[in-house]
Amino acid sequence: MPRLSARLKDLHGSPVRAMLEASLRPEVISFAGGLPAPETLEDIELPPPPRALLQYGPTEGEPALRARIAEELAAIGLDCPAERVMVLSGSQQGIDLVAKLCVDAGTPVGVESPAYLAALQVFRFFGAELRPMAPGGWGPGPAPALAYVTPTFQNPTGRCWSLEAREALARACAAQDAVLFEDDPYRELVYDPSERRPAASFMRGGSRVYQGSFSKVLAPGLRLGFLAASEDLYTPLYRLKQAADLHTSRVGQWAALHYLNDPGRPERLRRLVQHYRVRRDRFAEALERRLRGLAQWDVPPGGLFFWVRLGAGVDADALLAQAAERQVLFTPGRHFLADPAGAPPAIRLNFSNAGEAEAERGLGILGELLAAATPAAHAA
Ligand SMILES: Cc1ncc(COP(=O)(O)O)c(C=O)c1O
Repeated sequence: MPRLSARLKDLHGSPVRAMLEASLRPEVISFAGGLPAPETLEDIELPPPPRALLQYGPTEGEPALRARIAEELAAIGLDCPAERVMVLSGSQQGIDLVAKLCVDAGTPVGVESPAYLAALQVFRFFGAELRPMAPGGWGPGPAPALAYVTPTFQNPTGRCWSLEAREALARACAAQDAVLFEDDPYRELVYDPSERRPAASFMRGGSRVYQGSFSKVLAPGLRLGFLAASEDLYTPLYRLKQAADLHTSRVGQWAALHYLNDPGRPERLRRLVQHYRVRRDRFAEALERRLRGLAQWDVPPGGLFFWVRLGAGVDADALLAQAAERQVLFTPGRHFLADPAGAPPAIRLNFSNAGEAEAERGLGILGELLAAATPAAHAA
């Protein structure tokens, strides 16, 4: 037997990644991942890059792209010089780098409950002790070393924090030396007026990392994200990035810069948001038709997901097994919980990827299965 790292005992595969291959089969209706609608990828222009970009490049990213990202961040209230902006190979890489930066075995990490499952997976891998916290902070107990939050259109709930909660978390992190790690990949997918100012923009002093992604508004296959860090964290993050991959693909960075500089970008974004707003509304109507009385949900003001709470006693994993037999996929809610034991059953449904007719059909199947699985439904 080869001797492998002791860390591997906390390495678990992502259930969503495991379903990806199946979810791409045309006969499968997938509510499982966070995939953009395929038709939104069709009008993306990919200009051929200058040949010089085929050479190795700087670890932090292309200077022109970093400068443009810094401008975008200033426009949303986050002052960060371009020298502290780093281009990432997807914002998932930011989670990995920040975990390497902050987490040892037993390090307390504050996370929302529920929270993005692939972040929980990374923090667990580095041995974090995950501590569920509410929007706004961790309450009267001791501060975590790191607070990981998605205050805007969260994955999986779609929830958006109030201004007060954003300010409170920034204050608490600065006062108690917790690193504020704000993950913001959905902020542009806004369907109803919502508070979207980054929590990190309220931080005076203290240590923070804010990150965004090009995956949800441009193309996830480019694997492009970025982070902006406080001065104390930037250099170690830079060194960790160096060790991880030297730098992000320069060809992808070229595409992202082209996208940011395209005069047609605001109009493209407006069309994208409108497309998803309609899709969200149709999905909400289909949920009403198919799952009413069997589950509860809030209509998300932005992002790509509905968080659907099931009746007590429903087994979401058994439901998935039955749904998968009928070519319908979703993600059971327990994967998003730091402490799933005894949590009420829930599932996450993505509404961006399936077309309207497919969504109606898929939710019809879920409705049938849920009606059979929900104890209260039998009693009614
Ligand atoms: C909250 C959150 N953070 C990070 C990511 C990773 O995105 P990417 O690596 O494609 O930028 C996702 C993807 O769904 C996400 O939902």
